[in-house]
Amino acid sequence: MTRRILVTSALPYANGPIHIGHLVEYIQTDIWVRFQKLIGNRCLYICADDTHGTAIMIRAKKENRSEEELIADMSRQHQRDFADFHVEFDHYGSTNSDSNREYCHQIWKALRDADLITERAIDQLYDPEAETFLADRFVRGTCPVSGHKDQPGDNCVCGATYSPTELIDPKSTLSGATPEIRTAVHLFVELEKLRPFLTQWIDNGDALQKETANYLKGYFLAEDKPLKDWDISRPGPYFGFEIPDSPGNYWYVWFDAPIGYIASTAEWCTANGESIDDWWRSESTEIHHFIGKDITYFHTLFWPGMLHTAGFQLPTKVHIHGFLNVGGEKMSKSTGTLIAAETYQKYAEPDLLRYFYATKLTPRVEDLDLGIDEFVDKVNSDLVGKVVNLASRVGKFAKSTGLSPIYPDDGGLFQNAAQAGDAIAAAYESGDFSRAMRLIMELADAANPFVEHAKPWEMKKDADRQDELRDVVTVALNLFRQLAIYLAPVLPSLAQKCDALLGEPITSWQQSKTPLVGTPVEKFKRMMERIQPEDLQKMIDESKANADAEAATENLPTFNDSDAPLKDEPLADEITIDDFVKVDFRVARVLSAEHVPEANKLLKLTLGLGGDETRQVFAGIKAAYQPEKLVGRLVVMVANLKPRKMRFGLSEGMVCASGPGGEDVFLLAVDEGALPGQRVH
Ligand code: 2FM
Repeated sequence: MTRRILVTSALPYANGPIHIGHLVEYIQTDIWVRFQKLIGNRCLYICADDTHGTAIMIRAKKENRSEEELIADMSRQHQRDFADFHVEFDHYGSTNSDSNREYCHQIWKALRDADLITERAIDQLYDPEAETFLADRFVRGTCPVSGHKDQPGDNCVCGATYSPTELIDPKSTLSGATPEIRTAVHLFVELEKLRPFLTQWIDNGDALQKETANYLKGYFLAEDKPLKDWDISRPGPYFGFEIPDSPGNYWYVWFDAPIGYIASTAEWCTANGESIDDWWRSESTEIHHFIGKDITYFHTLFWPGMLHTAGFQLPTKVHIHGFLNVGGEKMSKSTGTLIAAETYQKYAEPDLLRYFYATKLTPRVEDLDLGIDEFVDKVNSDLVGKVVNLASRVGKFAKSTGLSPIYPDDGGLFQNAAQAGDAIAAAYESGDFSRAMRLIMELADAANPFVEHAKPWEMKKDADRQDELRDVVTVALNLFRQLAIYLAPVLPSLAQKCDALLGEPITSWQQSKTPLVGTPVEKFKRMMERIQPEDLQKMIDESKANADAEAATENLPTFNDSDAPLKDEPLADEITIDDFVKVDFRVARVLSAEHVPEANKLLKLTLGLGGDETRQVFAGIKAAYQPEKLVGRLVVMVANLKPRKMRFGLSEGMVCASGPGGEDVFLLAVDEGALPGQRVH
């Protein structure tokens, strides 16, 4: 029976680019979704950008643009990166949407009606310069326990944990100001009241991996520890949705983020004439969330609690994955291993990363490691050496032979691979992609010797053996196609290349059961290139250089300069140093300055370049400068500009100034010590 399945990945924050660590999850989810679609289930893949919160507000302020501009830009970048890595959503929304606001209101009302909301005043640090309350991570100071300096707002290297109000000599990381303690009312969800439901949900069924259910039971649901109230509001200013019955307070980003799953589905439903209730309020729909282990409790406690209270369907399964390490170490900007999706792509095919991750992903909450040598060996040997090799060894003969009208005797290879389809499908279904890839490579290992023994390149030379050659081509390309079908969830672009070669699109898992016969074959084109360790090293070097450049700008003081001048007049096309030196900029002294009666914008200047060398220049600075105040000052001029005859006399150069004109004109000045006649480089 066809299943109806709604799938989500965690909504990426709109405050940074997608990197290879994020991609573990989106690729994992996309593989699972593509598999479900290929075997014929109705499957919807929903995502959105997670756009609210203090981090976005602060970044927008720093970049001197509105939050809306920032999140629109990030959404474009995120969607571009996902598309480049063949992560294909059915809908990609934003938590800053009307539809999300509507569902937040709905769920909030349900929580209120169920008497789950309480409020109390709490003391919090407030930055008087940035005019905002400070989350723990935006405060640093001296540990009240050990005296360690420059510690974060909630814990110290000595192991102590404390409240940011207890820090000695606290400083806001936003402005450097000393924060004040201010009292503000916060709203809380009383999670303890949901204990009976949560206990039952965690115990019941297969929604959670075993290790996660045990962890939650042991840690959060132990009998002697009441569940802490969940602080769900932030006082303004805050970029988010204002709470309708608590003016001046906003929902904390983690309240509205998961609601984005529903809101984004609703947008898809509207666009496709479907009912949201069929997807979120129907027992016949499965809901699968894919998330990283760091956000387990949001999705296994708060989120089911909200869904249950508001009468939505609970997750069928929360698939939790571990973190990505690179070369056995945590990814880091400073070592260049936090590689942006955009950077990766300059040096390697996205499909290679998709395959590598697939070989590493299991249904367990385990970290995975990307080792450079392992990556290179695996993708070169498996994909290029085994899978693509099968097609490329017969590819150049195939156009002339086409496929045989009857599938030849291959010693049971095709049949055997067709039977393996069920085990491979079961591995995909359970999220054991690593096992699926092993099973597929076993088939590739069995198939390759067939071509090696048959030696089609020798048959090609013998006119009497052309039927034999066609049979070998038929077997090799059908075995290759079986692999391409099994790998299609992981390598969608290889599946497309197979389609193009054999003229038969891969649309269903069932196609692996029946060989193609009697059809023409297109001209063979190379399907995949080997990767070299140097390519990955270049990726790391570029990431490191980018991180260093970013760190350098991060440490620059903020002056809040407007971006209007650059927007009004974008930078000109690049020039070479040879172009630049053609312009001879010189320091010059204003020897005389006078009005030009016939011209309302111009002053006539006599500029001295040292000794007796002078130039007469007409400059459009009359509205901004009084002539007598200019005499004696140093300016910068273009000294080799071809003299121009004007109505009032000859202009022998140009003084350098910025600004749009009129009163807003600003002459370039030079520092004390500069001499007239000196060249400006
Ligand atoms: O951890 C994160 O990156 C969050 N932006 C994930 C949100 S998932 C969901 F709840 F929206």
